[in-house]
Amino acid sequence: MQITCPVPPCAGTTGASSLESVRPKQTHEHGTRLKRSLPVVLACCLVACGGGGSGSTSNPTNATGQPDLTTPDNGNPPTGNATLLPALPVPSLTPGPSADDEPIPESGLRHSVTGFLPVRDNAPAITKQSAEEITLEEFLAGPLPPIIEIPPGIDPATNAAPFFEGLTDQELFAGDVLTLPFIPRDPEGDLPGLFPEELPEGGEFVDNFDGTKSLVWQPLQGDVGITEFTIVALDPLDSFYRTRQTIRIRVLMPDDPASIPNRPPRIEEFIPHTVRVNDPVAIELRGIDLNDTTPTLSIANLPPGGTFTRHPQRDDVFILRYIPTQTGVQTFDVVSIDADDPALTTTEQITIEVLSAASFLTQGPRLRDLAVARGLFLGFASRQDFYHRPDGEIYTQFAADEFNLVTPENSMKMEVLNPLPGRFDFADADNLMRFAERYGLAVHGHPLVWYTQLPEWINTTAVADRAIHLREYISRIVSRYADDVRSWDVVNEPVNNDGSLRDSVWLEGMGESYIDIAFRQTRELDPDAVLLLNEFDIEVDGPKADGFFSLVERLLERDVPLDAIGFQMHLFTPFDQFDEVRQRFQQAADLGLDIYITELDVSFPEGTTAGNRDFERQAAVYREITTLCLEQPRCRSIQTWGFTDQYSWREPLEPLLFDARYQDKPAYRAVQEQLTPP
Ligand code: G3I
Repeated sequence: MQITCPVPPCAGTTGASSLESVRPKQTHEHGTRLKRSLPVVLACCLVACGGGGSGSTSNPTNATGQPDLTTPDNGNPPTGNATLLPALPVPSLTPGPSADDEPIPESGLRHSVTGFLPVRDNAPAITKQSAEEITLEEFLAGPLPPIIEIPPGIDPATNAAPFFEGLTDQELFAGDVLTLPFIPRDPEGDLPGLFPEELPEGGEFVDNFDGTKSLVWQPLQGDVGITEFTIVALDPLDSFYRTRQTIRIRVLMPDDPASIPNRPPRIEEFIPHTVRVNDPVAIELRGIDLNDTTPTLSIANLPPGGTFTRHPQRDDVFILRYIPTQTGVQTFDVVSIDADDPALTTTEQITIEVLSAASFLTQGPRLRDLAVARGLFLGFASRQDFYHRPDGEIYTQFAADEFNLVTPENSMKMEVLNPLPGRFDFADADNLMRFAERYGLAVHGHPLVWYTQLPEWINTTAVADRAIHLREYISRIVSRYADDVRSWDVVNEPVNNDGSLRDSVWLEGMGESYIDIAFRQTRELDPDAVLLLNEFDIEVDGPKADGFFSLVERLLERDVPLDAIGFQMHLFTPFDQFDEVRQRFQQAADLGLDIYITELDVSFPEGTTAGNRDFERQAAVYREITTLCLEQPRCRSIQTWGFTDQYSWREPLEPLLFDARYQDKPAYRAVQEQLTPP
């Protein structure tokens, strides 16, 4: 594929690094963005400016002889022919996006970023109607049977499962106090362990110091209805041999609601944040009142120039906006005022650490610049609402400086984008595109098709209609973002740990061919996007990887348009199977596929505490993985699943390159060193 530079050879003599002069200034209106204009511009200019590129412009390569990034598969024709699928039915099974689904500009009240103006969805928030609404008939039918989990090696005939003595469903009035003991028993006589899966709001789990524990809970107005509560008993000999007992608690409104005690309101937990002096800060606080009313919040010590106002669309949320002009730890006293009794209040403190601009300076070259010079994407998964977070501005700056690719952690999951039939909430995804456009990052879409994080409605569709629902969904999303998204995780996590195909509404409707259909539909709608099959734990030996690669071979034999494999790589610091990773990467390359490391993070094992965490060991894993990608010509991208521990899905295990205060860790410096040309 001949690539013509869309820009004259860059000057490269402006004093900025040659890379600076190639970073395009995105000036397009949203939606008319030149697809992948960034890598094309960078690759051409790299060659023109000698910025780490070498070889002819017809097929530029970088310092390590890696192919350039500008084509989905290094100039080879896309794999698989896009066998055209039959036309989608008219009318469609569910309505497509309409003008009502177009996001609208957000009022200046909420966002904490200055580089772009976020948009918001215009439709009313969806109250989460749980599909598990438990009916009275179900409650009256009596307790559910226990679920027993039997690990390998356990023979129930000789070691019967633990159970709870005398545990039944419960019924009480709001305002009454429930004290429910859990008495675990084991037929072999020893004492089982036990734990609750999730406590009801306001509930406590107390130890009776006799081998039993009790749930103590005073349901209030907000709890009227039927609540499920699950308690788990652990076999004394093997804690993975366990019995899950779910009970139902029916809460009734008393004849005299005034008999229900009025509990003081409070705010939802607010974790401390670190921000940069002189940056705009927006803090969203949610008031909670278990009596099912909406408290008013106020701040006794509002900072100079600060405002604290109710959220424009949510009555239970208030927003503190201010610009910290001094460094130090700032504490605000937040007062929650009861809606029925203004004298009933709670005062709680929230903390913000303000650091100087110098505190956020990271030594050495930016990872983004190093990656571009190596002909690589370096990406991160962006938190869904970073532009509403207190530290949104510094988050944005680090993201734009260190990465040339962004993928949405949650913004493009089906439950977010298409929560109801015919309803589309595009704002979070659109904001990601605006961010990427503003700072010149490529976008990696994640995921089009997954077995989880699906909207309830898809689970209730006819099995025979699943293929059309899948294709309608893909066609709507890919069509909207084809100009913005360079690569897609078309199907995410298709196999089980034993290598078999993972159950899902899609497999139920189409068998394995759901994968073929998803890729063909995507290719049809966006012919030059890079299409990935994305999975975790396939970088090492084992039945899962074997099953996955067998699936890949079947797909390729069926000419499915698959361009690359996404190796998620959610690792832990003791990881040392690097030879297996090298072999799995080569296995993908031998199949003619590119390699994307899509969700890299390296967590400390559960149970390790701050004092005994070996950050150099963590750095060594990042270093080795970076090296493995640099060594493999078909490795195109290293993407971490977030970049600051503040927002990691595994936050307590500190898995990322920066800590929660945006300070670079040994892991960052290890990647920086490895990407620096020898
Ligand atoms: O946004 C809602 C919020 O409104 C609500 O108050 C809150 C409590 O119910 O839930 C919030 O949604 C959560 C969402 O993350 C955003 O924070 C979901 O409950 C939670 O399940 C979801 O977890 C995500 C997880 O995928 C879902 O399976 C993680 O953030 C995300 O990091 C993780 O990412 C996955 C990749 O997509 C696929 N590979 C594995 C990776 C890690 O599990």
